[in-house]
Amino acid sequence: METDAAGELAPLAETLRRTFGTPFSYWSRDTGELSHATFQPGSNDPLRGQLSRALVGSDPQFIQDEDSLLVMAIPLSLSTGEEVVATAAFMTRPVAAGECLAAPAVMLGLSEEKTAIWMSRQTIWSPEALHRLAMAVQAQITAEARSKKLEREVEKLSHNLATTYEEICLLHGVTQNLRISADDEYLCRLVLDWLLDCLPAKSLAVQLLPVAREGENTYKARTESILLSSGCCPINNQQFTELIEQLQLNAGCGPRVMNDRATAVDGWKFPEIKQLIVVSIAEGDRVFGWLAAFNHRDGGEFGTVEASLLNSIGAMVGIHAGNRDLYREQNEFLASVVRALTSAIDAKDPYTCGHSDRVARVSVRLAKELGCDPAMLHTLYMAGLLHDIGKIGIDDAVLRKPGKLTDEEFDQIKQHPELGYRILADIRQFASVLPAVLHHHEQWDGRGYPFKLTGEQTPRLARIVAVADAYDAMSSDRPYRKGMDSAKVDEILRSGAGKQWDPDVVAAFFAARGDIAAMSAQERANLTLDVQQWV
Ligand SMILES: [Fe+2]
Repeated sequence: METDAAGELAPLAETLRRTFGTPFSYWSRDTGELSHATFQPGSNDPLRGQLSRALVGSDPQFIQDEDSLLVMAIPLSLSTGEEVVATAAFMTRPVAAGECLAAPAVMLGLSEEKTAIWMSRQTIWSPEALHRLAMAVQAQITAEARSKKLEREVEKLSHNLATTYEEICLLHGVTQNLRISADDEYLCRLVLDWLLDCLPAKSLAVQLLPVAREGENTYKARTESILLSSGCCPINNQQFTELIEQLQLNAGCGPRVMNDRATAVDGWKFPEIKQLIVVSIAEGDRVFGWLAAFNHRDGGEFGTVEASLLNSIGAMVGIHAGNRDLYREQNEFLASVVRALTSAIDAKDPYTCGHSDRVARVSVRLAKELGCDPAMLHTLYMAGLLHDIGKIGIDDAVLRKPGKLTDEEFDQIKQHPELGYRILADIRQFASVLPAVLHHHEQWDGRGYPFKLTGEQTPRLARIVAVADAYDAMSSDRPYRKGMDSAKVDEILRSGAGKQWDPDVVAAFFAARGDIAAMSAQERANLTLDVQQWV
């Protein structure tokens, strides 16, 4: 402020000097001290300062009057907000030869001889003209100061507007990426890059905490904390954990801002961190991680603007992480239901143990060959696992009969697609697999069951499961018979293409023949519905 005021005073002093033909002195109205002195006689007289300071009105006034000599004071407001009073002495009439100059000499702080010399060089002013000119100059300077002040405010506002705009863009960018399918690590990496552009920080970091314990999850879930950073991060993951411990942060603690004074204390373990903001990435009481900005880019201090932006981002990422975890837990629950149902089929028909799992994996491989999207692969995997769930409702004696079935017994077996459909129909999460459960025994030529659908009338899902099912049934060993050799299986599938099975699916089978044989031979210890983990 002082520098600004001093910088503004010099041109102002020049304006007054040119207008009145004499230099002015400038007194601070706050302190009464001289802000800017000149070589004019009496210009540093403390009495002028005191008299100037006492000016309460904003109009120029004469503060000293000694017959031929006047001291005028002009109160001025600078654009910096500082107030000064300009003072100078003026002659109002010529001095007669031999006139006593004792009083003016005191006012000017000169000897009478020097006073006479000074006076002989002065312009003679009419007090009214002097006052009118002072009023005009004061009005002009006030208007200029006001204009400068407004200019500065506009500059500040437009800077704030630009910052706010950047923040809004950043928040908008984050919301655009809050899809439930968006991985929180991916989202955090985006956020870190954006924040590095937006905040005056040398580095930003996110520590994401584990959301599950090792071995307890089938879906992909973080089991160890990780540190993501942008810029030059001064600490590693372990140190970040220690930092949070030292700061004793928790979910609801709000942003923590620390600047030089706070980090220069004894016991601060992170000498590389001079300025810091940390906010939680949390939803309710649950902390998913921490977001931090390290070290101000210009060596300045972090303030509430930066802290509140980080806090908003932390809150958004926290809600997203919470939703992701809820979604994952729902999927885990669904996986456990599927696991229980699959175990129930295996328990019912132990001879075909593992059949559902193999059909599921082969179906996914076929679907991949056919160019299906990840959602379809996931559905097919569940469909493969559950396609024979209706067998739970078939008489054990029929289901486990080793020899040839009678027509009546075969009619019972043929009920399993519809039984399966009824078992799963009320579970919303299984809606997408129902077509496969109901139609996996339909045939391309319409000779299947239960509805004798033909060609593409049968849902594609079911046509894919049908090929996987037939392949596994033919190639697997049973207690009462050996599995067919691969040449025989291939021959049957090839000749059944366009009759029993969708020719496209059979073609996909032969395109992936090697993979499928290897996959079927492989035992799988853990059932996971997270197809993306193993496709
Ligand atoms: Fe079946």
